[in-house]
Amino acid sequence: MIQVKKVFKSFNQEPILKNINIQIESNEIVALQGPSGAGKTTLLKSIGLLDTIDSGSIIFEQKNITLFNHQEKCFFRNQQIGFIFQFHNLLPEFSGLENILIPSLISGKSFQQGEKNGMALMESLNISDQAHKKPSEMSGGEQQRVAIARSLINSPKLILADEPTGNLDSFQSTELFKLFNKIRNKFSTTFLIITHNKNLAKLADRIINIKDGQII
Ligand SMILES: Nc1ncnc2c1ncn2[C@@H]1O[C@H](COP(=O)(O)OP(=O)(O)OP(=O)(O)O)[C@@H](O)[C@H]1O
Ligand SMILES: [Mg+2]
Repeated sequence: MIQVKKVFKSFNQEPILKNINIQIESNEIVALQGPSGAGKTTLLKSIGLLDTIDSGSIIFEQKNITLFNHQEKCFFRNQQIGFIFQFHNLLPEFSGLENILIPSLISGKSFQQGEKNGMALMESLNISDQAHKKPSEMSGGEQQRVAIARSLINSPKLILADEPTGNLDSFQSTELFKLFNKIRNKFSTTFLIITHNKNLAKLADRIINIKDGQII
């Protein structure tokens, strides 16, 4: 599904990604591990077209997505990718349900359709009672799960998750991984998940290790 080929990226003349080559099959759950500062988030953002690379290519279903123009990139992100960020980036002035609905509305679905899908996702994540609360009125773990529901609302082919269990206890973290597995089985979703948690990484199909901007 995804081929990252000879990817290089620097910030302020400092090389951060140094010749990254990886391949991810569709339907795989892959964990990305490595020390702080290794380049994990940078790689994830590059694959999700939230950041540009200096050279190399990223192929998504046979298309070189790094060559997309601005409009194609926006469409690709909205339709194909679900993001779960390290700091969940919920919009503070909107309720839980509204946050989840936004990508659905952007994609052109009706409010009613989005609301129905959003509530079903909230139920499966055990956060229905957060639907009408603002993020500031939720716990960290509840905000995290709202962000997860938001990432799933457009049934993306690929979920890119940066420390999705960061605010969850070990029971909730294992439950979340089980949920990812269920989603994969039901919707053939592919997952690339950054996690520091070695026990969780073991639940993935495969672990990719990155150190100092290189795959090891
Ligand atoms: N926008 C930026 N401008 C300059 N340097 C950056 C920027 N983003 C990341 N970096 C640097 O790139 C390196 C890799 O950062 P990255 O966020 O990819 O690390 P990481 O592996 O995700 O670490 P962590 O586990 O701490 O989240 C770090 O040295 C960081 O300081
Ligand atoms: Mg990071």
